[in-house]
Amino acid sequence: MGARIVVDELTVRYRLKSGDLINALGPISLEVENGERVALLGPSGCGKTTMLKVTAGLLRPSSGRVLMDGEDPSLPRRRGEIGVVFQKPTLLPWRSVLENVLLPLRIRGDVDGRLERMAIDLLHAIGLKGFERSYPNELSIGMQQRCALARAMIQSPKVLLLDEPFASLDEMNRETLNFDLLRLCEPNGVTALLITHNVYEAVLFSDRVIVLSERPGRKVTEVRVDLGKERDPRVLESERFYEHIIRVRKALRLSRLEVAG
Ligand SMILES: Nc1ncnc2c1ncn2[C@@H]1O[C@H](COP(=O)(O)OP(=O)(O)OP(=O)(O)O)[C@@H](O)[C@H]1O
Ligand SMILES: [Mg+2]
Repeated sequence: MGARIVVDELTVRYRLKSGDLINALGPISLEVENGERVALLGPSGCGKTTMLKVTAGLLRPSSGRVLMDGEDPSLPRRRGEIGVVFQKPTLLPWRSVLENVLLPLRIRGDVDGRLERMAIDLLHAIGLKGFERSYPNELSIGMQQRCALARAMIQSPKVLLLDEPFASLDEMNRETLNFDLLRLCEPNGVTALLITHNVYEAVLFSDRVIVLSERPGRKVTEVRVDLGKERDPRVLESERFYEHIIRVRKALRLSRLEVAG
């Protein structure tokens, strides 16, 4: 079960300490269907994290709006329906791995044995078996991001927002996590938005790749990814996968030409 996201003529401006205003994002409009997985590709500083923050209900737009099933995202956020993984792991160092995963539930009420079991199952599914009682500083960055992903999934969110969650990982680890992530997303029909700089990751994860321009980020083009919903490592050995990679690379190149021209 997911939610439909509508981004409608969204812009965000920041006021700098100098007093100047900077146009960080947009105007940008896009729609993400219920249960759809979309990857956002765009140059550094074009406003991707900014858009994710607005979509998560953590930042107000300067103009335009984001709606989640017709509501302001702050409402589903308060109901625990949005899971977010940020660019850097944001775990509480004084809490164990298990307690970090349980945190969103503790904030909202009591945690019973069933929910604790669910958290442990989630940690096992994401490759952290045996580390439930460890502390974040005893984990590698990749393991911390796994923990952050488990925390984002613990409330079975309708919407999952991922901001380059695997950027600091080596290729092998990244690939494993990409498939772990797919396995977590598939049965739930969660609506997901993945920000990434990595074309392979974008194609592997998504039903659609959206390409953004330089700051202030606008939608330049999109590529549909026609690889089916369920994907396993064999997809990486298929010609169709590489056809999509080429399509996205071309779209990126043309978008740069378009912006430059
Ligand atoms: N809190 C802030 N105050 C002022 N300017 C900001 C703030 N956050 C971001 N910016 C500016 O807004 C623009 C977009 O930033 P954002 O972090 O959304 O980019 P991004 O696309 O996520 O980049 P990256 O790929 O490097 O993570 C940048 O020019 C950045 O300097
Ligand atoms: Mg960012």
